Amino acid sequence: MGVNKNNCKIKSIRARQVWDSRGRPTVEAEVLLNYNARGRAIAPAGASTGTGEAVDRRDGGEAFGGFGVKKALAAINEDIAPALKGLNAANQDAIDKALIELDGTADKSRLGGNAMIATSLAVAHAAAAAYKMALWQYLHEQENSGQAPFLPLPEIQIFGGGAHAGGRVDVQDYMVTATGAETYAQALEWTADVYRAASRLMAEEGRLHGVADEGGLWPDFDDNEQALDMLVRAIEAAGLKPGQDMAISLDIAASQFGSKGRYRLARDDRTLNSDELSGMLVDWVERYPIVAIEDPMAEGDKEGMVRFTWAVGKRVQVIGDDFLVTSVGRIRAAARDKACNAVLIKPNQVGTLSETKAALEAARKAGFGAIVSARSGETEDVSIVHLAVGWGVEQLKVGSITRAERTAKWNEGLRIADQLKEMGLEGEGQQPGGALPPRSRFPWGKGG
Ligand code: PGA
Ligand code: ZN
Repeated sequence: MGVNKNNCKIKSIRARQVWDSRGRPTVEAEVLLNYNARGRAIAPAGASTGTGEAVDRRDGGEAFGGFGVKKALAAINEDIAPALKGLNAANQDAIDKALIELDGTADKSRLGGNAMIATSLAVAHAAAAAYKMALWQYLHEQENSGQAPFLPLPEIQIFGGGAHAGGRVDVQDYMVTATGAETYAQALEWTADVYRAASRLMAEEGRLHGVADEGGLWPDFDDNEQALDMLVRAIEAAGLKPGQDMAISLDIAASQFGSKGRYRLARDDRTLNSDELSGMLVDWVERYPIVAIEDPMAEGDKEGMVRFTWAVGKRVQVIGDDFLVTSVGRIRAAARDKACNAVLIKPNQVGTLSETKAALEAARKAGFGAIVSARSGETEDVSIVHLAVGWGVEQLKVGSITRAERTAKWNEGLRIADQLKEMGLEGEGQQPGGALPPRSRFPWGKGG
């Protein structure tokens, strides 16, 4: 690609404390290369984290409710920076290997997953800058797939529940996905129409009380199903056909309200065993235009996952988030057991860019769908959009279509769509607004 390797040598790395969308400190890493190419990235943070995730390093104690990141900043400034100095930023595998060795733990707890992912992504940004490319383009060229890039199909939250809304309803994410949209831009437009329609309907019923952590409407419902009814009504009120133009996608995040054998649905005032929870969700799939269900069972309930996937896995995406934590080993095991058919890809769950990519490759090999995802604690950082486009991932989940830490991502996709057009990289006969992945890549596009 015509860049002297020397230009990509890491000159310095510095960390700074910045703020996330929930008023918590988080880690930004800034990488400077020889000849002054520069890259920056910020670590996001989850609220409903799986136990297998890379550990966020937090200071504990009184300050910032224990969420301080001084130790993670020190890990970058004092440990990581000297270790990576002089390495080639364009060799991401070697960079990440050095980070993993320096950390030396299975759960990234020494340096901290937050310190590691911020550094790993910042290095990629710096290398892309040295090549004078956008990150998506830099990654796409490395893929060498010969395929025209596309924009991911958005999965967008309308109501936020679970841990993101003080447990107001049990289900964590009530989302929509524009299965009938022609372009990325149209998918966003339709979703914004649904969001506004939902706001209006909620206001009419005296149920509008602001938003949850990821910008979705506050879920003032009497039970979990009422939210599903409201979603269908909002899709219709927006002039769209439920199940055709716009479908429903749920993140049950079941680890938050139960474990194997005992699931406490506080809003519905009942306790279900794994079989009963599965039965309830299968019933929802029968009665509502649902195309995807994430973490239907708690992360340790493999039998429940297998049972649910057996029941509906041909028709809908059964997505592992807490269940798979972007881990190659867990994805392979889930494929072997037929315990789900899609995976959420969250870079900070695993801690480095190379490991994130390896998880995606394991998912592809298993024939799993893949959804790149943000966290509930986010910032203006838009790296994940570049990963999705650069790696050709079919779907993107970023919370709602309000609040700047969310719209920053959706808007970056619109800019990338324009770049693809300018570069003549859009697929044949594509309208402006960003080509979406071929429908045949989704369960609902397979026909039958
Ligand atoms: P988290 O939740 O970022 O709060 O962990 C997001 C999700 O469960 O998908
Ligand atoms: Zn989830």
